[in-house]
This record gives sequence, structure tokens and C-alpha cells, in this order.
Amino acid sequence: MAYRDLHAFLDKLEELGELHRVRVEVDPVLEIAEITDRMCKSPHGGKALLFERVTGSAFPVVTNIFGSYRRICAALEIGELEALARRMEELFRQVPSTSPRDKIAALPQWGEFSRFLPKRVTYGVCREIIDHDPDLGAYPVLTNWPGDGRPVHSGRFITLPLVFTRDPETGAFNCGMYRVAVFDGRTVGLHWSAKSGGAGHYEKYRARGERMPLAIAVGGDPAVIYAASVPFPAPIDEMQMAGFLRQSPVEVVQCLNSELWVPANAEMVLEGYLEPGEMRREGAFGNHTGFYGMHEDVPVMHITCITRRREMVYPATVVGPPPMEDCYMAKANERLLLPFIRLELPEVVDINLPLEGIFHGCAVVAIKKEGPGHARKVMDALWGKGWLAASRLLVIVDADVDIHDLPVTSWRVINGVEWRRDLIVGESPFDKAFAAQGSRYSGGRLGIDATRKMPGEGFTGEWPEEVSMADSIKQLVDRRWREYGLSEE
Ligand SMILES: Cc1cc2nc3c(=O)[nH]c(=O)nc-3n(C[C@H](O)[C@H](O)[C@H](O)COP(=O)(O)O)c2cc1C
Repeated sequence: MAYRDLHAFLDKLEELGELHRVRVEVDPVLEIAEITDRMCKSPHGGKALLFERVTGSAFPVVTNIFGSYRRICAALEIGELEALARRMEELFRQVPSTSPRDKIAALPQWGEFSRFLPKRVTYGVCREIIDHDPDLGAYPVLTNWPGDGRPVHSGRFITLPLVFTRDPETGAFNCGMYRVAVFDGRTVGLHWSAKSGGAGHYEKYRARGERMPLAIAVGGDPAVIYAASVPFPAPIDEMQMAGFLRQSPVEVVQCLNSELWVPANAEMVLEGYLEPGEMRREGAFGNHTGFYGMHEDVPVMHITCITRRREMVYPATVVGPPPMEDCYMAKANERLLLPFIRLELPEVVDINLPLEGIFHGCAVVAIKKEGPGHARKVMDALWGKGWLAASRLLVIVDADVDIHDLPVTSWRVINGVEWRRDLIVGESPFDKAFAAQGSRYSGGRLGIDATRKMPGEGFTGEWPEEVSMADSIKQLVDRRWREYGLSEE
């Protein structure tokens, strides 16, 4: 059954032995981040951490709620992440449309999926307390790394925000997770990438010279928090997808000062507006690549009110050198978004985003190769559009490679590639997350075609046979294993 809210999820984590309560007082400036970082890097992602007493604030903080396979699965109420791929594939199988684009376009209105459209309600616990004279200083917003904000602002960032905006032309809603820099008690900065839904809406308001209403929810049930961070293709609505993931529509309540709708069970909601064209410098920020991101001019939100639950818990994440909590969110994305890719490219058998690649930074892709040049066609298609378009490293291997076994995959790639023939170095759009890109306007990307080469692919003769033992000998050794006295070793 779907979690009622974040509190219900934390109860579940406690029941599973996946939550640790820190009862002594801790500082939201760096100390919580250091404790969380150590926990993220301990075996199997450690535990979620509930900091009950936080210096300077009346509210507890919870971190690392998604930071292990067990917890992300608990968050999405599944036994294993593969269930996400199976459910999406099953859904697509049922949608009666022929082209991939039509299927995705038809999804929101399609019977089974349309049951999960957000449900509008008139009241939510996110409004138990209404503060029309808000001060963000009262809330335990973390500073994660010593260089955060330096030298421009305090370095406090809301790191698990659900940013709600609306298209002024179509009326369509968007929810995205973009870090929020706290400038002072009433103003924050929004770090959304140019291709994000929020930035698209903002551009339209800016062109019209109109104020843009905006709401930032923090907390809610875990499927809602997670869905805000997934790059679903248009026109899929994050809240509808969250409803599908939790198998129950997300209840949303209208903001007090705008036509935006936010999850009724959120812990906290910041309402406000952006003035067209008003920008302010934010950063630096210790990013999930493990490097500090550059300073940037970002749109400024003026907060008009903050509403919250009476017993509010403030959720946050710490990103930095992997593995961190968001690596497990990336692994969930990998499973959930694979079926979208397979709609267009059914020859893609599987995808692995290694944790060190930071979401889409690196993708290992197994394909059923059907002819010469096929791997390159797949690369072109993946880089052409969609979720992996900004991938910096694509490695294509044959379908028989177990791409989730990275040592085996590395062995196949390192030993099976002719570097002069099988590498494709190309131009990619600039991605500010990657510190080593010198230019602000473009970056490079690398494709490795590690598939077995066929005639017509610059390889003559027979592809070398792989070394492996004869089946008859393997069976013999299986039968005699105990005789060798090795069974206990
Ligand atoms: C913890 C976390 C932080 C993120 N921070 C940002 C960010 O600051 N800016 C951004 O553009 N995307 C960020 N993302 C990725 C977006 O949430 C993701 O691309 C999402 O799909 C954006 O929603 P949209 O496609 O509706 O714009 C972050 C993701 C996670 C998990």
C-alpha cells in the first residue's frame, strides 16, 4: 500500500532496521554532511539518518533515505529495481499505438495509466502551519561542503526540492528537482539546466515580461520525491508517474497564492514568484561529479509564504564523490527509463549506468547486433535525443556480455577493441556539471564500439574465438568437486 507521507516511509525504514536516529545535537553546517557521507560510503549504503536535534532549528533532518538498493526498493515498494522495467514494459505493451512517439504521447490518457492522474483535494497537512512572514533561517537547510556558496552566499542549499511551475501558454504543469540556493530568509536561487521543464516555462514568462509563480515542496511520500528527479520524456507528468509508481494517485492541493498544485502531504512548501530577468550569482556547489560546480547566474525566487506540517521533518541529500545517495536514484532511473529507449531501439537489450558515471555520464549498452555499423547507429540514436543524449561515454557491447558485471565488461572492452577503429570522438553540448570541460559552449564525448566486428567493419578474417573450457570437462569437474576436497574453500 502506498506510503501516506514521508513519516510513514521513515516508520517503514525503522521497521526494516534501515534508519538510525542520531539523538545528540549536530550542526547543519558541514557536520551532518560529513556523517552522511561516511554513511553513504559504508557497506551497502549504511542507513538512513534521522538527526533529531539540529543546531539553530526546531526541526529534525533526515538524509540518505534512498541511499541503498534496499531503501530505494522500499521507497518504491518493489522487491528489486528490475520490477520498474517490467512494469513500464508491460504498460507500453498495453497501449494500443504503433509508433514509439505515439505510444508515449498516448500514455497520459490511456486507461490503466490515466487512473493515476493527480487527485485534487482542498486541504493537505502541508498547510497545518501557514507563515506569511517567512524566514528560511528557521529551517535546517544544510551546507554540505566547505566551498559551497563561496564567496557569493552562505552555501546553504535545499537539495531534495520539488520545484513546481506551469507553462503560461499551454497550462501544463512541471515538477523537477533542481537545487535551490538560499540567499537569505526570503530569497533563493533556482539552478535549473537550460533544457529542463522549469527553465522552459521561465523562458516563456521572461519573453512575456511577466512574473512567474513558483512553488517548492520539500518532502512528501518517497515515490513523489523520486519522480521529481526523473527525466521523463514529454508529455509525461511527474506526479502522474509518481501515482503509477505508488499505485495510487498523488493528492495535490492548490497553492495559497497561485494556480500551482503541490503534494498535499509535503513536509513544507515555499510559495513565491520570479521577476522576469532577475538573476543572481549562485555556487560554488560540491556536485555529484565530485567537483565543485562553477558559479552561475540563476533566477531569483521571492518567497511570499511558507506552509508546513506541524511535526515537520526536513529531508536532504548530500551529493559528492560517489557512491552517494543519488547513485541509487540513478540506478532506479536506469531501470525505469530503459523501456522508453527500447520503444525506439528494440535491439537494445540492457543498459548499465556505472555509479561512477554519475547518472547518464557513462552508459554501457548491450545490443543484439544485426549488421555492420549497427553499434554506431545505436550510438547516433542515443546521442540524438532522449535521456542519454548528454552521455559523455557510451560503450556498446554484444548482447551476450553481462554488462552488470563491470570487471567482465572491462575485460571484454579493453581486450576486444582496436582503438584506432572502434572509438568515436564527437562534439556534445556543454554540460556544466563536468569540471574538466574548458569551454563554456561545447564538450566532447566518446563512443566505444566494443562489439564483435563483422565483414565491412574494417576487420578481415574470423573474429577470434574466446577462451573457455569444454562443457564436458566442466561437468566432469562439477561431478568430482567434492573428491578434490575443495568444497569448503
Ligand atoms: C539530487 C538531485 C539534484 C539535482 N539537481 C539538479 C539541478 O540542480 N539542476 C538540474 O537541472 N537538474 C538537477 N537534477 C536532475 C533533474 O532533477 C532531472 O533532470 C529532472 O528530470 C528535471 O525535471 P524536468 O525534466 O521536469 O525539468 C538533480 C537530480 C537529483 C537526483
